Amino acid sequence: MQIIRELAALRGAVADLRAEGKRIALVPTMGALHEGHMALVAEGLRRADAVVASIFVNPKQFAPSEDFGHYPRRERADAQLLEKAGCTILWAPAVETMYPEGFETNISISGVSEVLDGAARPGHFDGVATVVLKLINQVAPDVALFGEKDWQQLAILRRLATDLDLGLEIVGVPTVRDDQGLALSSRNAYLMEDELARARALPRALGEAAAAIGRGEPIEGALATAIARLAEAGFDPIDYVTLRDAETLASIDQLGDRPARLLAAARMGAARLIDNLPVVAA
Ligand code: PAJ
Repeated sequence: MQIIRELAALRGAVADLRAEGKRIALVPTMGALHEGHMALVAEGLRRADAVVASIFVNPKQFAPSEDFGHYPRRERADAQLLEKAGCTILWAPAVETMYPEGFETNISISGVSEVLDGAARPGHFDGVATVVLKLINQVAPDVALFGEKDWQQLAILRRLATDLDLGLEIVGVPTVRDDQGLALSSRNAYLMEDELARARALPRALGEAAAAIGRGEPIEGALATAIARLAEAGFDPIDYVTLRDAETLASIDQLGDRPARLLAAARMGAARLIDNLPVVAA
């Protein structure tokens, strides 16, 4: 695996892969890799001949009050994991390489990025869209892979790719969970042991609500029960537990023909956790 930090070197390495006729997959990450990220790399290798994984803790997607400064950084261990998984290139640019002096462009998507986490974290999805568009332009991949764990992010990036004719395939990869259902996340490292145990109420509450709604029980009641479960477990605040159109994230008050998704965000200790599940009529 090549570890590349300069854009000219990246373009050269990508041109070499292209000259060999290789299909290229891009897996953007912020590092502190776990099995969730590695599932994206594995899926990338199934769908392409070469995988470019990026590690870049993107300052533009953190608000000043957020955890940019102490976001976990362990590039050496990450590089070993990627190498073992068969990744072709690790693209690990410095902040000055991605955002040189004078950088003034901002990519902003309306609608789907204005609700839920877009409302709770102003500017966050602009930062995500800006960096992901840059990564896509730098690597020019055939396919880019993102986790369903960050469902709203995936929906926004699908919108971006469609609206700007990016000409690549955006693939969503199912959420990787621990043996008790908790979605793996680099931010789980912020949880104390007892908080980690209590955090497992999140996937349980969502699972029960999704099943209840799928059986045709009233949506309001199912959401209220889920919120009560989270409060009992010690989540505070609970930002939202909500049923949405899976693609547009518009509110829905009944299951229809279009796919529906149950999404939640809530704070446990020092970590704001998010999770989501599909809701299917039984
Ligand atoms: P990061 O949080 O490092 O996540 C990188 C990718 O891994 C995202 O597509 C995310 O959805 C996916 N992922 C994280 N945990 C997962 C899990 N448990 N199961 C499956 N996939 C999982 O998301 C970002 O970084 C950034 O916003 C980024 C897209 C890299 C832009 O900076």
